[in-house]
Amino acid sequence: MKVLMVCLGNICRSPLAEGILKHKCKQQNLDWYVDSAGTGKWHLGSAPDVRSIKVAAKYGIDISEQRARSIRSTDYEEFDLIFAMDTSNFKDLKSWALDATEEMKIKLILDEVYPDELMSVPDPYFSDDGFEEVFQMLDKACDEIIKKYA
Ligand code: 4NP
Repeated sequence: MKVLMVCLGNICRSPLAEGILKHKCKQQNLDWYVDSAGTGKWHLGSAPDVRSIKVAAKYGIDISEQRARSIRSTDYEEFDLIFAMDTSNFKDLKSWALDATEEMKIKLILDEVYPDELMSVPDPYFSDDGFEEVFQMLDKACDEIIKKYA
């Protein structure tokens, strides 16, 4: 299974989602390929936000080596599942899909925990205390992703 996690900047939420899912795959001996990307281009090549690095480290996950990149058209062919962190990322990703096969790969990540509620992982960039909550939401979602797709 090839899974892509997508947010706006690829420095706060999707690097955490990538790190958490990779960590769980390793623990469960799942041979999945996991990556992340942003819909925007402001932070290309940057390491994750220090607050994301910190909350991941608290749970024994090192995401410090990740570097931000933006989504590319080949991602739609390469990946089996593309998870958007919020409804805005979801809409953007859908609008760039070339056909129904590509479009069907795109999911809202919290639908895995709260189906059909259109819930978004809140963007923690402009807050200081949102990172723990984001971690917990993504941790739950990654458990469900493995349950459903492994
Ligand atoms: P992310 O958070 O989408 O979770 O990586 C953001 C990071 C940067 C910006 C917005 C959201 N920004 O506007 O620069």
